[in-house]
Amino acid sequence: MAALQIRPATLADVPGITAVHCSTVTVWRDPATRMAVPYAQLDLFGRWRNGGAWMSVEMAAVHVASLLQAGQSVMVATWAGEVIGEAEVYFTHEPGLYAVLHLSILYVHATWQGRGVGQALLEAGVNLARERGLSALTTQPDDAARGFYARHGFELWRMQHELQLETTTSQPAPALMPVTSSEHTPGPEMALRIGRYQCGPQGWEVLWPSLELPGWSDLRRSVWQGNLESGPAVLGLCQQLTDPTQADAYVWVTPEASLAPALRALQALAGAQGYHAVDVLLAKEDIPEARQHFQLGFQTQIELWQRRL
Ligand SMILES: CC(C)(COP(=O)(O)OP(=O)(O)OC[C@H]1O[C@@H](n2cnc3c(N)ncnc32)[C@H](O)[C@@H]1OP(=O)(O)O)[C@@H](O)C(=O)NCCC(=O)NCCS
Repeated sequence: MAALQIRPATLADVPGITAVHCSTVTVWRDPATRMAVPYAQLDLFGRWRNGGAWMSVEMAAVHVASLLQAGQSVMVATWAGEVIGEAEVYFTHEPGLYAVLHLSILYVHATWQGRGVGQALLEAGVNLARERGLSALTTQPDDAARGFYARHGFELWRMQHELQLETTTSQPAPALMPVTSSEHTPGPEMALRIGRYQCGPQGWEVLWPSLELPGWSDLRRSVWQGNLESGPAVLGLCQQLTDPTQADAYVWVTPEASLAPALRALQALAGAQGYHAVDVLLAKEDIPEARQHFQLGFQTQIELWQRRL
């Protein structure tokens, strides 16, 4: 008799994973015109713009392979051998309260939703976190999924505000070393404190993309490391897709470090690269100190939720 099974994914599951993600898209849109178009008319970049690497088998294979190679976990839910749901979780390897299992993807095939598949994948994530001795599971819930996460013991962990920092060319950039290899990851004493849209390893993935996708992988990216007044730091800038005159910032420092030196460094580094502004995503509690030193224009806010274990 068929039964719901949750197991680690392999590359053979990629067509099923893509089918799960594509089933949740009701209208495919041309990224340039925003007009509705058939899936078959979209090139790889167009499919990616409709929901990421999962939207085409070629891209999803690269994505899943790189996650597995990095020691992260991809799980599938199957019924009678068919993939009907997928979850991706990241072990963050960050210090203190940042040492969590981050659930970055949880998708159930549209025809299988509401039958306990999402819950089963989530519980598999909880078990993985417990096995690793982690004290919390985190996620950044979509609006439509908040009820699901609230129902399963998640609550707001951090309110994150994306603010815009004007750059400068009048201040010298700090003496930091360029990082030239993705293997030089931030040390275990540092956490992603600016640009935490999801979790630390995902911030690193943005700076060192595994997917060679023209339009995305050729955006300008730069990474530096060294010591600021606040201690050791790793700083990254990624040119924005929608406005190439701006960059998104990613900063790893210790959990206690003041963020002012990193913001000052970003202002000068981004100015020297010709950007007029840099977007910095900060935890709400870090904003008062940042506002004492910088003028920061509000852009948007996102929520990170957690379930304590
Ligand atoms: C959100 C999602 C993963 C939930 O999976 P699912 O298989 O449909 O959910 P389940 O059947 O396991 O639901 C388990 C419980 O949560 C409840 N639930 C499910 N979705 C819910 C929602 N959106 N709001 C409130 N409660 C919800 C169910 O009613 C059920 O409660 P019960 O045990 O009291 O009956 C799935 O709907 C999905 O893939 N959605 C589209 C993609 C998405 O939004 N993913 C999350 C990205 S952050």
